[in-house]
Amino acid sequence: MPLFEGLGSGGEKTAIVIDIGSAYTKCGFAGETGPRCIIPSEVQTSSLQPIKVVQHNINTEELYSILKDFIHMLYFRHLLVNPRDRRVVIIESVLCPSLFRDTLTKVFFKHFEVPSVVFAPGHLMSALTLGINSALVMDCGYTETLVLPVYEGIPILSAWEALPLGGRAIHKELEGLLMEQCTVDTDCNSGQSLPAVIGSLPEEVVEDIKVRTCFVSDLQRGLKIQKAKFNLEGTEERPAPPPDVDYPVDGEKIIHIKGSIRDSVMEILFEQDNEEKSVATLVLDTLLKCPIDTRKALSENLVVIGGTAMLAGFQHRLLSEIRFLAEKPRYQQVLATRTFRLHSPPAKPNCTAWLGGAIFGALQDILGSRSVSREYYNKTGRIPDWCSLSSPRTGARAGHDTRKAPPPPMKRAFSAEK
Ligand SMILES: Nc1ncnc2c1ncn2[C@@H]1O[C@H](COP(=O)(O)OP(=O)(O)OP(=O)(O)O)[C@@H](O)[C@H]1O
Ligand SMILES: [Mg+2]
Repeated sequence: MPLFEGLGSGGEKTAIVIDIGSAYTKCGFAGETGPRCIIPSEVQTSSLQPIKVVQHNINTEELYSILKDFIHMLYFRHLLVNPRDRRVVIIESVLCPSLFRDTLTKVFFKHFEVPSVVFAPGHLMSALTLGINSALVMDCGYTETLVLPVYEGIPILSAWEALPLGGRAIHKELEGLLMEQCTVDTDCNSGQSLPAVIGSLPEEVVEDIKVRTCFVSDLQRGLKIQKAKFNLEGTEERPAPPPDVDYPVDGEKIIHIKGSIRDSVMEILFEQDNEEKSVATLVLDTLLKCPIDTRKALSENLVVIGGTAMLAGFQHRLLSEIRFLAEKPRYQQVLATRTFRLHSPPAKPNCTAWLGGAIFGALQDILGSRSVSREYYNKTGRIPDWCSLSSPRTGARAGHDTRKAPPPPMKRAFSAEK
């Protein structure tokens, strides 16, 4: 509990700030510099397998029960405060399905009886940490990479671009490469194939291998790796790989991780797919969707958030990739802007959106007027959303169907009327 809370804040207790990501949840108090806890977004059940909290293919009752258990754990194991005393700031993605958003609101108001809730878009909150009004924000997290421009404090929702590239895609690729190419030493035998000894690798192990041993190659090296990979005749030379690494598992087995996997696995983020899209083209395509007079301000204020952006070499590669692509005929002829600059926010990329929410939550006057109170919710049974505003909910936003939603008055997400 923050020390001396209440002093000078009119007696109102500091708000709770929660960012429920598909992999990790960041949770803590407004006005603090970092979350109190970063925990996997899952609940432990009586069966051994934990259940993921962020699921979109289950029914409302099931989701309600999972969220109830999860929020209970946050309040009573990590934050240790009474839910009824404090407002709640929820960091949301603009692509979050309505079912999840509505169920989460219901859990907070009906089960935990919190005084008020406000949904704050993570991209907008990240710009807040830098004190800038305009930014092109890229969130590279676990399930997807989502780019959303914010101009003069208003998200340009019609210009978002996303790809299912993030931690999950890297883990899948890495697991495939490890299974295919790596060998294992045990006490009795060495050089055995990985699937024969270990069967399958748990995702936590794959993630740990990724974070400890893999890195993003620089542009020149990356382009050579891609050329060699797609050159089926084998005429292209691959750059010399970094040294192999021995990774111990279960105390007695050693996996030999090849250097060629360490420097090449992240290339999936930058290789262009059949539609010629990669995380770097997302930024340029978003710029092209923005009004011409906003592009300069946006390209000079790039902000990269999300845990995947913490990979060694990611931000450097992203910037060089963007500059490289901007010179290609595909963008050169349509994009006048050539200056791209990356901000470094005052928090680690995976906590930047949370920190923005913590700053917003500390502005108590504003928080009060932007939040939806329990009385309002009990009276109307709904929470305003950027695609439904004050009219009854139409069901848009379900799944990732936001493209079909009506064009919204932009500032809505931040003007939840009481
Ligand atoms: N230091 C690090 N280096 C590399 N990767 C990291 C690091 N820390 C976290 N990650 C990766 O970042 C991903 C999680 O990022 P983040 O917490 O932003 O996701 P999320 O918010 O849960 O997901 P999403 O925003 O997609 O819902 C995981 O795949 C994790 O492996
Ligand atoms: Mg996230």
